[in-house]
Amino acid sequence: MTGAPSFALDERVILVAGGGNGSGRECALAYAAAGASVVIGDINVTAAKAVGDEIASRGGNAAVFEYDGSDLDSVRALVRFTASEYGRIDGLHNIAGNPTLHERDLDLLSSEVSTWEDAFRSHFSAYAVAAQEAIPVMIETGGGSIINTSSGMAISGDAIKLGYQVGKRAAELLTMHIAHAYGRQGIRCNALRYGVILTANAKAHLDQAFLDDAQDRNWLGRLGEPRDPAGAAVFLMSDAAAFISGQIIEVAGGKMSGIQG
Ligand SMILES: NC(=O)c1ccc[n+]([C@@H]2O[C@H](COP(=O)([O-])OP(=O)(O)OC[C@H]3O[C@@H](n4cnc5c(N)ncnc54)[C@H](O)[C@@H]3O)[C@@H](O)[C@H]2O)c1
Repeated sequence: MTGAPSFALDERVILVAGGGNGSGRECALAYAAAGASVVIGDINVTAAKAVGDEIASRGGNAAVFEYDGSDLDSVRALVRFTASEYGRIDGLHNIAGNPTLHERDLDLLSSEVSTWEDAFRSHFSAYAVAAQEAIPVMIETGGGSIINTSSGMAISGDAIKLGYQVGKRAAELLTMHIAHAYGRQGIRCNALRYGVILTANAKAHLDQAFLDDAQDRNWLGRLGEPRDPAGAAVFLMSDAAAFISGQIIEVAGGKMSGIQG
Protein backbone atom coordinates (compact mmCIF):
# COMPACT_ATOMS: atom_id res chain seq x y z
CA MET A 1 0.00 0.00 0.00
CA THR A 2 1.27 3.49 -0.80
CA GLY A 3 0.37 6.84 0.71
CA ALA A 4 1.23 8.67 3.91
CA PRO A 5 1.51 6.58 7.07
CA SER A 6 -1.44 7.03 9.44
CA PHE A 7 -1.03 8.84 12.72
CA ALA A 8 -4.80 8.83 13.26
CA LEU A 9 -6.14 7.39 16.52
CA ASP A 10 -9.85 7.34 15.62
CA GLU A 11 -11.89 4.62 17.36
CA ARG A 12 -9.07 3.97 19.85
CA VAL A 13 -9.29 4.09 23.60
CA ILE A 14 -6.16 5.30 25.34
CA LEU A 15 -5.56 5.36 29.08
CA VAL A 16 -3.14 7.99 30.34
CA ALA A 17 -2.07 7.12 33.89
CA GLY A 18 -0.91 10.49 35.19
CA GLY A 19 -2.65 12.67 32.60
CA GLY A 20 -3.70 15.58 34.82
CA ASN A 21 -0.65 17.79 34.45
CA GLY A 22 2.66 18.24 32.68
CA SER A 23 3.53 15.96 29.78
CA GLY A 24 0.67 13.60 30.72
CA ARG A 25 -1.83 16.38 30.14
CA GLU A 26 -0.23 17.27 26.81
CA CYS A 27 -0.22 13.65 25.65
CA ALA A 28 -3.88 13.23 26.65
CA LEU A 29 -4.83 16.36 24.66
CA ALA A 30 -2.77 15.17 21.68
CA TYR A 31 -4.36 11.70 21.69
CA ALA A 32 -7.81 13.27 21.75
CA ALA A 33 -6.86 15.65 18.92
CA ALA A 34 -5.77 12.60 16.90
CA GLY A 35 -9.24 11.08 17.40
CA ALA A 36 -8.88 8.81 20.45
CA SER A 37 -11.21 8.52 23.40
CA VAL A 38 -9.02 9.20 26.41
CA VAL A 39 -9.21 8.09 30.03
CA ILE A 40 -7.29 10.44 32.30
CA GLY A 41 -6.17 8.86 35.55
CA ASP A 42 -4.54 11.02 38.18
CA ILE A 43 -4.19 11.50 41.93
CA ASN A 44 -5.15 15.12 41.28
CA VAL A 45 -8.72 14.61 40.13
CA THR A 46 -9.33 18.35 39.75
CA ALA A 47 -6.51 18.58 37.22
CA ALA A 48 -7.71 15.43 35.46
CA LYS A 49 -11.25 16.84 35.20
CA ALA A 50 -9.88 20.05 33.70
CA VAL A 51 -8.15 18.02 30.98
CA GLY A 52 -11.34 16.01 30.38
CA ASP A 53 -13.35 19.24 30.12
CA GLU A 54 -10.84 20.69 27.66
CA ILE A 55 -11.10 17.60 25.47
CA ALA A 56 -14.90 17.72 25.60
CA SER A 57 -14.92 21.43 24.75
CA ARG A 58 -13.05 20.57 21.55
CA GLY A 59 -15.60 17.89 20.65
CA GLY A 60 -13.54 14.95 21.93
CA ASN A 61 -14.40 12.12 24.27
CA ALA A 62 -12.81 11.72 27.70
CA ALA A 63 -13.40 10.08 31.06
CA VAL A 64 -11.67 10.77 34.34
CA PHE A 65 -10.67 8.46 37.18
CA GLU A 66 -8.96 9.27 40.48
CA TYR A 67 -6.21 6.83 41.40
CA ASP A 68 -2.96 6.69 43.35
CA GLY A 69 0.03 5.14 41.57
CA SER A 70 1.66 4.24 44.88
CA ASP A 71 -1.31 1.95 45.65
CA LEU A 72 -1.31 -1.02 43.28
CA ASP A 73 -4.98 -1.88 43.89
CA SER A 74 -5.82 1.65 42.86
CA VAL A 75 -3.80 1.16 39.64
CA ARG A 76 -5.75 -2.02 38.92
CA ALA A 77 -9.02 -0.17 39.51
CA LEU A 78 -7.99 2.50 36.98
CA VAL A 79 -7.41 -0.07 34.23
CA ARG A 80 -10.61 -1.95 35.08
CA PHE A 81 -12.57 1.30 34.94
CA THR A 82 -11.21 1.96 31.43
CA ALA A 83 -12.15 -1.52 30.22
CA SER A 84 -15.65 -1.38 31.70
CA GLU A 85 -16.32 2.18 30.51
CA TYR A 86 -15.25 1.60 26.89
CA GLY A 87 -15.11 -2.19 26.46
CA ARG A 88 -11.58 -2.07 25.07
CA ILE A 89 -8.11 -0.60 25.68
CA ASP A 90 -5.94 0.20 22.65
CA GLY A 91 -3.30 2.25 24.39
CA LEU A 92 -1.83 2.46 27.88
CA HIS A 93 0.50 5.34 28.69
CA ASN A 94 2.20 5.05 32.08
CA ILE A 95 3.40 8.53 33.02
CA ALA A 96 2.86 9.32 36.72
CA GLY A 97 5.92 9.41 38.89
CA ASN A 98 6.15 10.02 42.61
CA PRO A 99 7.03 13.63 43.41
CA THR A 100 6.87 12.91 47.16
CA LEU A 101 10.18 11.03 46.95
CA HIS A 102 12.37 13.98 46.00
CA GLU A 103 13.52 14.98 49.47
CA ARG A 104 14.26 11.48 50.77
CA ASP A 105 15.56 9.61 47.71
CA LEU A 106 19.24 10.48 48.13
CA ASP A 107 22.51 8.54 48.02
CA LEU A 108 22.99 5.01 49.36
CA LEU A 109 24.22 6.00 52.84
CA SER A 110 21.60 8.72 53.35
CA SER A 111 18.42 6.94 52.36
CA GLU A 112 16.16 4.25 53.75
CA VAL A 113 15.13 0.89 52.33
CA SER A 114 11.50 2.05 52.48
CA THR A 115 12.32 4.92 50.10
CA TRP A 116 13.86 2.60 47.51
CA GLU A 117 10.82 0.35 47.83
CA ASP A 118 8.45 3.30 47.40
CA ALA A 119 10.36 4.46 44.32
CA PHE A 120 10.34 0.97 42.84
CA ARG A 121 6.60 0.62 43.47
CA SER A 122 5.74 3.93 41.79
CA HIS A 123 8.09 3.67 38.81
CA PHE A 124 8.10 -0.07 38.14
CA SER A 125 5.33 -1.97 39.95
CA ALA A 126 2.59 0.56 39.13
CA TYR A 127 3.55 0.45 35.43
CA ALA A 128 3.81 -3.35 35.50
CA VAL A 129 0.47 -3.86 37.24
CA ALA A 130 -1.27 -1.48 34.82
CA ALA A 131 0.16 -3.48 31.91
CA GLN A 132 -0.72 -6.77 33.61
CA GLU A 133 -4.37 -5.66 33.75
CA ALA A 134 -4.46 -4.05 30.31
CA ILE A 135 -2.67 -6.63 28.16
CA PRO A 136 -5.37 -9.38 28.34
CA VAL A 137 -8.00 -6.75 27.43
CA MET A 138 -5.85 -5.55 24.51
CA ILE A 139 -5.26 -9.08 23.25
CA GLU A 140 -9.02 -9.73 23.14
CA THR A 141 -9.45 -6.91 20.62
CA GLY A 142 -6.37 -7.66 18.51
CA GLY A 143 -3.56 -5.90 20.34
CA GLY A 144 -2.45 -2.53 21.65
CA SER A 145 0.38 -0.13 22.34
CA ILE A 146 1.98 0.57 25.72
CA ILE A 147 4.27 3.47 26.52
CA ASN A 148 6.28 3.68 29.74
CA THR A 149 8.00 6.81 30.98
CA SER A 150 11.68 6.64 31.80
CA SER A 151 14.38 9.17 32.58
CA GLY A 152 17.98 9.80 31.63
CA MET A 153 18.67 8.87 35.25
CA ALA A 154 17.94 5.24 34.29
CA ILE A 155 21.42 5.08 32.81
CA SER A 156 23.33 8.05 34.23
CA GLY A 157 24.67 6.52 37.45
CA ASP A 158 23.92 9.73 39.34
CA ALA A 159 25.14 10.12 42.93
CA ILE A 160 21.59 10.88 44.15
CA LYS A 161 18.08 9.43 43.68
CA LEU A 162 19.15 5.81 43.88
CA GLY A 163 15.57 4.54 44.18
CA TYR A 164 14.43 6.60 41.20
CA GLN A 165 17.31 5.34 39.05
CA VAL A 166 16.48 1.73 39.88
CA GLY A 167 12.76 2.28 39.27
CA LYS A 168 13.29 3.91 35.89
CA ARG A 169 15.83 1.32 34.76
CA ALA A 170 13.32 -1.35 35.77
CA ALA A 171 10.61 0.43 33.74
CA GLU A 172 12.90 0.14 30.70
CA LEU A 173 13.45 -3.56 31.28
CA LEU A 174 9.70 -3.99 31.72
CA THR A 175 9.27 -2.31 28.34
CA MET A 176 11.55 -4.79 26.59
CA HIS A 177 10.03 -7.71 28.46
CA ILE A 178 6.47 -6.83 27.42
CA ALA A 179 7.54 -6.21 23.82
CA HIS A 180 9.20 -9.61 23.60
CA ALA A 181 6.71 -11.68 25.60
CA TYR A 182 3.49 -10.40 23.97
CA GLY A 183 4.60 -9.09 20.57
CA ARG A 184 3.13 -12.07 18.76
CA GLN A 185 -0.23 -11.30 20.34
CA GLY A 186 -0.26 -7.82 18.90
CA ILE A 187 1.19 -5.91 21.83
CA ARG A 188 3.83 -3.25 21.18
CA CYS A 189 5.63 -1.61 24.10
CA ASN A 190 8.10 1.27 24.04
CA ALA A 191 9.48 3.76 26.55
CA LEU A 192 10.06 7.48 26.30
CA ARG A 193 13.23 8.38 28.16
CA TYR A 194 12.95 12.04 29.12
CA GLY A 195 15.67 14.61 29.54
CA VAL A 196 14.68 17.60 31.65
CA ILE A 197 11.10 18.57 30.83
CA LEU A 198 9.98 21.81 32.46
CA THR A 199 6.82 20.58 34.15
CA ALA A 200 5.52 22.15 37.36
CA ASN A 201 6.98 19.17 39.21
CA ALA A 202 10.43 19.63 37.65
CA LYS A 203 10.42 23.37 38.31
CA ALA A 204 9.52 22.75 41.95
CA HIS A 205 12.24 20.18 42.60
CA LEU A 206 15.23 20.95 40.35
CA ASP A 207 17.50 23.81 41.36
CA GLN A 208 18.48 26.56 38.97
CA ALA A 209 22.16 25.55 38.75
CA PHE A 210 21.13 22.06 37.64
CA LEU A 211 18.70 23.47 35.05
CA ASP A 212 21.30 25.93 33.71
CA ASP A 213 23.89 23.15 33.39
CA ALA A 214 21.41 20.84 31.64
CA GLN A 215 20.49 23.60 29.20
CA ASP A 216 24.16 24.43 28.50
CA ARG A 217 24.88 20.81 27.62
CA ASN A 218 21.72 20.27 25.58
CA TRP A 219 22.38 19.89 21.86
CA LEU A 220 19.30 21.94 20.96
CA GLY A 221 20.25 24.56 23.53
CA ARG A 222 17.00 24.42 25.47
CA LEU A 223 15.16 22.31 28.03
CA GLY A 224 12.03 20.32 27.22
CA GLU A 225 8.51 21.71 27.39
CA PRO A 226 5.59 19.52 28.58
CA ARG A 227 4.35 19.39 24.98
CA ASP A 228 7.61 17.90 23.64
CA PRO A 229 6.90 14.19 24.35
CA ALA A 230 3.41 14.36 22.77
CA GLY A 231 4.54 13.90 19.16
CA ALA A 232 6.49 10.74 19.92
CA ALA A 233 3.58 9.49 22.04
CA VAL A 234 0.99 9.91 19.26
CA PHE A 235 3.40 8.26 16.82
CA LEU A 236 3.96 5.25 19.09
CA MET A 237 0.21 4.80 19.63
CA SER A 238 -0.49 4.98 15.89
CA ASP A 239 -0.23 2.56 12.97
CA ALA A 240 2.75 4.59 11.73
CA ALA A 241 4.73 2.83 14.49
CA ALA A 242 3.35 -0.64 13.70
CA PHE A 243 6.84 -2.19 13.42
CA ILE A 244 8.41 -0.39 16.38
CA SER A 245 8.50 -2.20 19.71
CA GLY A 246 10.84 -2.70 22.64
CA GLN A 247 12.55 0.63 22.02
CA ILE A 248 13.72 3.23 24.49
CA ILE A 249 13.31 6.53 22.68
CA GLU A 250 14.99 9.61 24.08
CA VAL A 251 12.95 12.81 24.26
CA ALA A 252 15.84 14.87 25.46
CA GLY A 253 16.80 17.45 22.86
CA GLY A 254 19.63 15.40 21.40
CA LYS A 255 21.75 15.02 24.49
CA MET A 256 22.50 11.34 24.94
CA SER A 257 21.59 10.42 28.49
CA GLY A 258 24.48 9.12 30.52
CA ILE A 259 27.05 10.81 28.30
CA GLN A 260 28.52 13.98 29.71
CA GLY A 261 29.53 16.87 27.51
N1 LIG B 1 9.88 16.45 34.23
C1 LIG B 1 11.09 15.93 34.01
O1 LIG B 1 12.09 16.63 33.85
C2 LIG B 1 11.25 14.44 33.94
C3 LIG B 1 12.49 13.92 33.57
C4 LIG B 1 12.64 12.55 33.46
C5 LIG B 1 11.56 11.72 33.71
N2 LIG B 1 10.38 12.25 34.10
C6 LIG B 1 9.26 11.35 34.37
O2 LIG B 1 8.17 11.77 33.58
C7 LIG B 1 6.94 11.48 34.26
C8 LIG B 1 6.12 12.75 34.37
O3 LIG B 1 6.83 13.66 35.15
P1 LIG B 1 6.30 15.06 35.59
O4 LIG B 1 7.46 15.95 35.75
O5 LIG B 1 5.20 15.52 34.70
O6 LIG B 1 5.75 14.85 37.07
P2 LIG B 1 4.70 13.89 37.76
O7 LIG B 1 4.92 12.50 37.54
O8 LIG B 1 4.75 14.21 39.13
O9 LIG B 1 3.31 14.43 37.21
C9 LIG B 1 2.56 13.84 36.18
C10 LIG B 1 1.16 13.62 36.69
O10 LIG B 1 1.19 12.53 37.58
C11 LIG B 1 0.32 12.82 38.65
N3 LIG B 1 0.72 12.05 39.83
C12 LIG B 1 1.72 12.31 40.69
N4 LIG B 1 1.75 11.38 41.64
C13 LIG B 1 0.75 10.51 41.37
C14 LIG B 1 0.27 9.33 42.00
N5 LIG B 1 0.83 8.85 43.10
N6 LIG B 1 -0.76 8.69 41.44
C15 LIG B 1 -1.35 9.14 40.33
N7 LIG B 1 -0.96 10.26 39.69
C16 LIG B 1 0.08 10.94 40.21
C17 LIG B 1 0.45 14.30 38.88
O11 LIG B 1 -0.69 14.80 39.58
C18 LIG B 1 0.55 14.81 37.47
O12 LIG B 1 -0.72 15.14 36.94
C19 LIG B 1 7.33 10.87 35.61
O13 LIG B 1 7.34 9.46 35.51
C20 LIG B 1 8.75 11.37 35.80
O14 LIG B 1 9.52 10.54 36.63
C21 LIG B 1 10.18 13.59 34.22
